[in-house]
Amino acid sequence: MSHASDGSRFTIREATTTSDQVAACALQFAVYVGDGYVEAERAATNLKPEVLGSGGTQLIACRPDGSVVGAVLYLHQGSALQQVAAPGEREIRMLGVAREARGEGVGEALVRSCIERARMDNASALVLWTRLNMEAAQRLYARLGFTRITDRDMQDDRGFTRMVYAYIY
Ligand SMILES: CC(C)(COP(=O)(O)OP(=O)(O)OC[C@H]1O[C@@H](n2cnc3c(N)ncnc32)[C@H](O)[C@@H]1OP(=O)(O)O)[C@@H](O)C(=O)NCCC(=O)NCCS
Repeated sequence: MSHASDGSRFTIREATTTSDQVAACALQFAVYVGDGYVEAERAATNLKPEVLGSGGTQLIACRPDGSVVGAVLYLHQGSALQQVAAPGEREIRMLGVAREARGEGVGEALVRSCIERARMDNASALVLWTRLNMEAAQRLYARLGFTRITDRDMQDDRGFTRMVYAYIY
């Protein structure tokens, strides 16, 4: 899906090559560690192409020069990386946009792309979890039509609540 024709400065596509996958993980590491959501040691263990690539497809937002400014992991059906999906649902994780690219619609375009992908996959819902202090993300999900599903919230072992959202088809 391209967003270049409407004046946007990025395109969304699958991370197909090893170098795409490395760039996606590097971006997610920079966002999650840089914003203070994940400790560097934990991120170094989990945010690796071989870990994320085994569980899903990375969608990336690229500048015309090829640099990656956003990424999201669209999990395969039954992926070992699923944390909130029920049978028949699809889940996304690790949405992140580089600080310098925020407020351009990159996050929205990545999530819209996942909504369309899950629709094509005949999912009953696209689900995800977020955290109380991820306020920009919560506005994004609400704007795109996700519903907050409080009765599916769960506790994370780091001491916060995983707040569940679902886009229902
Ligand atoms: C959440 C996150 C992915 C949003 O990415 P983003 O690319 O900035 O998102 P968007 O640009 O689509 O939307 C951000 C804002 O820009 C606005 N916007 C979008 N396109 C715009 C444009 N062309 N011109 C001006 N504003 C625009 C949106 O309306 C939105 O406004 P809001 O802050 O009032 O909600 C990003 O902030 C991030 O990486 N946060 C840290 C990690 C995180 O929280 N991840 C979520 C995990 S669940």
